[in-house]
Amino acid sequence: MIALTSDLAESGKTDQFEEAGDFLQRLSHALKVPRSRVLVVPGNHDLDRDSCELYFSDCDSANRDPAAPYYPKYVNYERFFRRFYQSERYSFSEEAYWSLYPIDSLNLVVAGFNSTVAESHREGRFGYIGERQLDWFENELARYANAGWFRLGLVHHNAHFTSSSTEPSANDPSTQPDVLRDYGVFEDRLQASLNMLLHGHTHLRGIRWMTNRVPILSTGAASVEAVSRPPEIPNQYQVIRVTRDDVTLYARQYVPHLDRWVGDTSVTRDGTAWQLQAQVAFQRVEATFGRRPERSD
Ligand SMILES: [Fe+2]
Repeated sequence: MIALTSDLAESGKTDQFEEAGDFLQRLSHALKVPRSRVLVVPGNHDLDRDSCELYFSDCDSANRDPAAPYYPKYVNYERFFRRFYQSERYSFSEEAYWSLYPIDSLNLVVAGFNSTVAESHREGRFGYIGERQLDWFENELARYANAGWFRLGLVHHNAHFTSSSTEPSANDPSTQPDVLRDYGVFEDRLQASLNMLLHGHTHLRGIRWMTNRVPILSTGAASVEAVSRPPEIPNQYQVIRVTRDDVTLYARQYVPHLDRWVGDTSVTRDGTAWQLQAQVAFQRVEATFGRRPERSD
């Protein structure tokens, strides 16, 4: 499976999505992973802020308030989505501006959260999912937990509260544009139904945890130009292997002057390894991994 925690585009424009679609098609072909297993979520660069501004002026003329998620900003993302999957099975629409990807052959379901709900063309950008979407996923994922399917979450923005900065305000999520502002509610509502969470946006070192039980892994973008990313963050991707008892990530980074991909040791604190492993007692995943053998002692 290929999970993209985005951004896919630079400023949500048609030609950028066409390029991203071509790339994903080639990747899917080269890795022999069908498109139905190439999974996406929207990121902040996937929004067409010009269409959003137009929507705000239309609302203004009609004397009504613009309502989140300001859906016209997804016009090009939605077009990309429909074209890429060409299937009724996966959806992203004005009624449900998020996606659920059930993969029957693996007994695995992927929750594609939309963390760009509150963003518009205006200042004051931050990640936000919102009650309506959380209600929907809480309900839906509970069904898959009952069936014993592995439940993987994908979200774009940084899914945590803290920052590496030592400024006094650093732990206040409302001051950070990169984090999911409603992460606390997200954690409360979904910790019991998610098995693992992947996010994009900013690369953060190591494996972090939601309530000590649900591993959270993050990676930066594989294709952003050097000028558009912090100097310490290379172009990167991860290979993630999940078994019934553990998760292992292998991090890869691109070295421009060598024109090749190598191990990315920035995932470990001491910079000595490009892979990390953690033991995890995944809950309610019998249909995916089989029942745990009875202990004989
Ligand atoms: Fe981003």
